[in-house]
Amino acid sequence: MKTVQLTQPDDAHLHLRDGVYLKTTVPATAKQFARAIVMPNLKPPVTTLDALIAYKARILSAIPAEFSFEPLMTLYLTDSTTPQQIAEVAASKEVTAIKLYPAGVTTHSEAGVKELTQLYPVFAAMEAYDLPLLIHGETSDPTVDIFDRERYFLDQMESIVQKFTQLRVVFEHITTQEAVQFVLSASDHLAATITPHHLLLNRNHLLSGGIRPHYYCLPVLKRRQHQEALLAAATSGNKKFFLGTDSAPHTVSTKEAACGCAGIYSAHAAIELYAEAFDRAGALDKLEGFASHYAADFYRIARNTQQITLIQKPWKVAKALPFGDEIVVPLWAGDSLNWQLLENRE
Ligand code: NCD
Ligand code: ZN
Repeated sequence: MKTVQLTQPDDAHLHLRDGVYLKTTVPATAKQFARAIVMPNLKPPVTTLDALIAYKARILSAIPAEFSFEPLMTLYLTDSTTPQQIAEVAASKEVTAIKLYPAGVTTHSEAGVKELTQLYPVFAAMEAYDLPLLIHGETSDPTVDIFDRERYFLDQMESIVQKFTQLRVVFEHITTQEAVQFVLSASDHLAATITPHHLLLNRNHLLSGGIRPHYYCLPVLKRRQHQEALLAAATSGNKKFFLGTDSAPHTVSTKEAACGCAGIYSAHAAIELYAEAFDRAGALDKLEGFASHYAADFYRIARNTQQITLIQKPWKVAKALPFGDEIVVPLWAGDSLNWQLLENRE
C-alpha cells in the first residue's frame, strides 16, 4: 500500500462557528491540523480583544484530549477599528491577523468595511506592528457580476500592496487565473490561500444538470480554466500559495433553501481532499510544502515537527454528519476519496 508522510499541516483559513457547532468543527480539524487561522465572522463578529479571548477559550475547551491543536485567532475589521486598537491588539500577542471583509460580500460581512481608503491609518498601524491583513478579495459593488467580483477587486488590492509595502497581506481563497497572476507579480509580502473545493470543482459542478447548493460558496466557483490555474499555482511549489480550507459549515436546512447560505464544509476530510487534488495533478510531492510549510513561513511561526501519514486506500465520505441539532452535508458526501489519514492520536 502506498503511503505519504507529511509534516503535520496547518489550515490557514477556517470557520469553526460557535456554541454547539464547536463539538463538530474543532475535533474534525484537530485530528489532522496542528494549527488553524480562525475566522472571526461570528454573529456578532469578533471585533474586540475581549470577545476574541472568550471565543478562543470556547474553542480550546472543545479540543478532544487525544489531540493537540492551537487556534490562531483573527480580529474582524470594521469601519470603526482604530490604529489605537491595533496597537493594543499587537501588544496582547493574542491576535495572529486581522480580517477584512468588504461590507456585504459574504456570510456575516454586514459589519465589514464600506470604504477601504478610510482604513488606511489602520493598515499603517498594522504595517508598523507587523500584523498581517487577511482580505476577502471581492468587490462589494452589487452591480458587478458575481463571477467577476474577485477580478474587479484587484485594483483595490493593488492600491493596498503598493501603499503598504511592508504589510503582510493574504489574498484569501483565490479563485481566478487573474488573482494567481496578481499574487505572482507582487512582492513576497503578498500570499494567497487556496481551498480544496476550488481545486476539485468548477462552476459546472455547481450548475450543470441541476443546482447543487452544497457546492455554493463565496467566492463562487469559477470556470474550469480558473480551476486549472489554481491547481497549477498550488502544485507549483511556490511558497506564496498555501492551504486554507475555508471550511464553512451551514446546517442542511439553511443550504437546501430558496435562498441558500454560501459555504462548503470540508474540515471532515480536508487533507484527504487536497491529496486527491494533488494526486490527480500528479503532484503529491508538492503537497507538503503547500500544506505544512509555506503558511508557517509566511506567518513567521515555527514549522510543525509532528508527522501525519496518508495511506492510499479508497474510502467513502459520509452522506451527512451531525451538526448541532441538525446535520451538515460535507464536501464529497457519499463519494470516494483515494487517500486516507492514518489517525495518530497523542
Ligand atoms: C463563509 C462563511 O460561511 O462563513 N462562506 C463561504 O462561502 N466561504 C464566509 C467566507 O469566507 O466568505
Ligand atoms: Zn472564509
